[in-house]
Amino acid sequence: MAEVKIRDLREWLAAVEKLGEVKHVTQEVDPVLEMGAITYMNGQNPGHPTLLFENPKGFSGDVKVLFNPIGNSMNRLSLAMRAKPGRTPIQLAEYLKDEFMKKIPPVTVEPKDAPIYENVLEGDDINLLALPVPKHWPRDGGHYIGTSDAIITQDPETGRINLGTYRQMVHEKNIVGYYSSPGKDTLLDREKWWALGKPCPVVSCYGIDPLLFICAATGFPKDESEYDYAGGLNGAPIEVVLGKHTGLPIPARAELVIEGYSYPTGRPEGPFGEFTGYYGRPGNEQTPYIEIKAMYFRNKPIMTAALMADMPGSNEQSLFLGLLRGAKTWRDMEACGIPGIKGVWGAPECAGGFGMTTVALKQQYPGHAQQAAAIAAQCAGGAYYQKFTFVVDEDIDPSNLGEVMWAASTRCRCSEDIDILRNTWSTYLDPSKNPNETRPFGSKALIYACKDFEHYKEFSLRTALTREQYDKACARWKELGLPGQAPALMAFDDMK
Ligand SMILES: Cc1cc2nc3c(=O)[nH]c(=O)nc-3n(C[C@H](O)[C@H](O)[C@H](O)COP(=O)(O)O)c2cc1C
Repeated sequence: MAEVKIRDLREWLAAVEKLGEVKHVTQEVDPVLEMGAITYMNGQNPGHPTLLFENPKGFSGDVKVLFNPIGNSMNRLSLAMRAKPGRTPIQLAEYLKDEFMKKIPPVTVEPKDAPIYENVLEGDDINLLALPVPKHWPRDGGHYIGTSDAIITQDPETGRINLGTYRQMVHEKNIVGYYSSPGKDTLLDREKWWALGKPCPVVSCYGIDPLLFICAATGFPKDESEYDYAGGLNGAPIEVVLGKHTGLPIPARAELVIEGYSYPTGRPEGPFGEFTGYYGRPGNEQTPYIEIKAMYFRNKPIMTAALMADMPGSNEQSLFLGLLRGAKTWRDMEACGIPGIKGVWGAPECAGGFGMTTVALKQQYPGHAQQAAAIAAQCAGGAYYQKFTFVVDEDIDPSNLGEVMWAASTRCRCSEDIDILRNTWSTYLDPSKNPNETRPFGSKALIYACKDFEHYKEFSLRTALTREQYDKACARWKELGLPGQAPALMAFDDMK
């Protein structure tokens, strides 16, 4: 059950404001390259706030731009997931994997009850060029209105509604490109429409509740709707209103939305500074686009933007995807019947939350670690563009990269404890594979950074404090004038 009641971006911002984690930037700032630069540099500071640019240079009007709503703040992430702040990373992952089981479908409201219909523009009145659309990186191929977004499509065969986050570059005042990697639901949906000889109906939200953004940016089973998962986390159905042209369900409390159709033709799109910290695709590829039929927005809308970057703190998806991939992989592994899982975490430090998954496991039988690694690496929640799967023992915190590396360097026998999976699901955005056409296939290393099960009992004992030593040191922490707080520890020596 949701622990906090938040219905939309504005209510989430108000809750974050109370924690002192919003910086209102009232001075004029240019959406072209300046907002991106400030967001990148702001993200390098621990405890950085989210940035609300209230005065985009060159744009009179009431449109604000919110950059990197989540950043590397566990507080902001917890509130987005409707959880009270205060959990450790692994506790939040465990909370989410259980919340994922509670799906609630959306509820349709009347247009008069949908704030998104406060302003409606159609035909010639639609003009994306009148909005402060950011250009993030100097070599970006254009201005990207879609980053912290959700594209809504429908499977024409089953009726399943999909929400997915996709980069979207403005081509003209009423045309926007959208790039989808192979295997993603938006791509599969649109190809089904085109195979039927019909244009693909599309809605795209550019100012959105972080809950919907995070659900859209996370892969859920292909036959299920992100709306249902978001509703479950929200503890109440997401309110939607039907699009006037497509009939697609639009989040009724979104900030800025477009509705239109896409056709099986393309325009050159990109490059774009990607989640990997590199530019993705050269920029001359023909990429499908949306012809916009209507644009809807609330009074004084807030556009949301996500900077992708090399440094984890500055990359909007690093922390939340590290958490969400961990939680979803954990759920998928349990569904496959793997016992003894103590925690799962995708590494925020690696390629925007992708690239690495660590499973903490209480080993119970021969081959248990190998089975866990293979499933973590290939399950729906964890397979895409994932390169390194570590299995560690239960005394290691999988969200602590330092501990994981310590376990790898002390428990892994490289000649026996690394397996490679080949031709696995990857993306054109992986810079390590060349030439570019080969990129949809990648490879994965399964690394057993855990005690060898055959010799588990003889394995060298780690140096660990006894509980008594720990408690005594904690009790004296303040008296001794030591900085910060006594750290939480995972491992203790029971002296048996
Ligand atoms: C800010 C951001 C931008 C993204 N841009 C793209 C993109 O341009 N193309 C893509 O294939 N995936 C992109 N993704 C990843 C997808 O949103 C993600 O894989 C999602 O699970 C896709 O959902 P779907 O398969 O249900 O549509 C992006 C994610 C984030 C957080």
